[in-house]
Amino acid sequence: MSSPPPEFSTGASSPQLRSDPSTPATEPEDPLESIENDDDQYVLVTGGLGFIGSHTSLELLKAGYNIIIVDNLSNSYRDVFSRILTAANIHYDRIGLPCPKAELCCADYQDISGMGLLLAQYTLRTPNAVPRSKITGVIHFAAFKAVADSIKYPLKYYQNNVRGLIDLLSLLDDHGIKSFIFSSSAAVYGTLADGTPRLREENCVHERIAYEAEDGGEVHVEPGCTGITNPYGRSKWFGEAILSDVCKSDPSWTVLCLRYFNPIGCDESGLLGEDPRDSASNLFPAAVRALTGQSPELCIYGTDWDTRDGSAVRDFIHITDLARGHVATLSAAQEGRITGSFRTFNLGTGTGHSVMEVVQALEAVSDLEIPVRIVGRRPGDVGSCVATPDRAEKELGWKTEKSLQDACEDLWNYLRIDKAQLTSY
Ligand SMILES: NC(=O)c1ccc[n+]([C@@H]2O[C@H](COP(=O)([O-])OP(=O)(O)OC[C@H]3O[C@@H](n4cnc5c(N)ncnc54)[C@H](O)[C@@H]3O)[C@@H](O)[C@H]2O)c1
Repeated sequence: MSSPPPEFSTGASSPQLRSDPSTPATEPEDPLESIENDDDQYVLVTGGLGFIGSHTSLELLKAGYNIIIVDNLSNSYRDVFSRILTAANIHYDRIGLPCPKAELCCADYQDISGMGLLLAQYTLRTPNAVPRSKITGVIHFAAFKAVADSIKYPLKYYQNNVRGLIDLLSLLDDHGIKSFIFSSSAAVYGTLADGTPRLREENCVHERIAYEAEDGGEVHVEPGCTGITNPYGRSKWFGEAILSDVCKSDPSWTVLCLRYFNPIGCDESGLLGEDPRDSASNLFPAAVRALTGQSPELCIYGTDWDTRDGSAVRDFIHITDLARGHVATLSAAQEGRITGSFRTFNLGTGTGHSVMEVVQALEAVSDLEIPVRIVGRRPGDVGSCVATPDRAEKELGWKTEKSLQDACEDLWNYLRIDKAQLTSY
């Protein structure tokens, strides 16, 4: 099956992304030509228009990385790209420096021949030298993520989240691109989450390990997983296990699996938010729908968990902190600061808040009441899930800085902001 050439949008030709903030934008005659001729390095971001991907793309640009986003818009909208550019340009205008490059390729990352064409565009071929990719790292967000949907349509999840990953890894291997950050999830801890006050990476491993517990005793852990309750969580565990095997067979790979806890909030500019196509089951978008009258109420799944108020407890992490965790991970990988070829990291705050507490915090910030309906537990849920984030702090030099209150305020700002200003920038 032959693929059409990838469809590009380039920040360089966008009025929002200028190579020199003091001069008017100029349109390159052929965006692809400029890609072939430059010697810059890029980070490939799959799923970069989604909730976490868009915030991470913005933080990557702010940190000086050129990016290429691949997204098939299955759960996002094209205009997110211009919002990323607008927010990045506001930042660079403020500090008087040119913004790095951003390219958008609207494509399915599972279309391997299309992806091959894309990677070819970023391969440097110089006489008497081995071809080298200008892509120095990949952050792989693209996946399906709705737990209930995954129980109903498991093959759809294994196709996109597992088979797609395998094909992508083979293609990257062919191009010598071996620095890979994988969006994993606290879901890999399965039902261990309920019996473990704060989860550490050693609770779920891909090879036999021994570690020293807090009481000084030695704990041995066998590879495997415990009580993963749904195909989505299993797809993430399979992804990690596959990546671990790839690294064992070829340690020239650097693979970092980031186990996200519960990202909430949005960028403080109010330009980026959580705006999925599906009616997401995540707490914040569901609360927003109830807050804005788009849905009659917010369903709270279970008030009989063994937690302080009976509602489920999660480690809610501000999306900007999470996005910056990717920048910290990428720079640790590129500076060779990672021990070993494969490593997992929890990205969380270390503190749990209950669903009820989040609802109260949102109500306090908005001065509005959120109508709630208490319903039974959802299949696939656990009562409590909180991270131990120490490994990321020690090895990546990253820790969270923002609070639940910040997340609620930023979300409220996002909801109030006049999106018309996007086009007037
Ligand atoms: N949001 C969370 O609570 C959470 C928690 C843990 C892990 N994760 C993981 O983080 C990643 C990003 O999550 P998110 O919340 O930003 O989700 P999202 O749905 O907002 O973003 C995913 C993006 O990937 C795109 N995409 C999906 N399949 C694709 C494909 N085949 N080709 C190209 N693009 C594709 C979608 O259009 C979307 O823009 C996912 O891998 C998810 O499993 C999310």
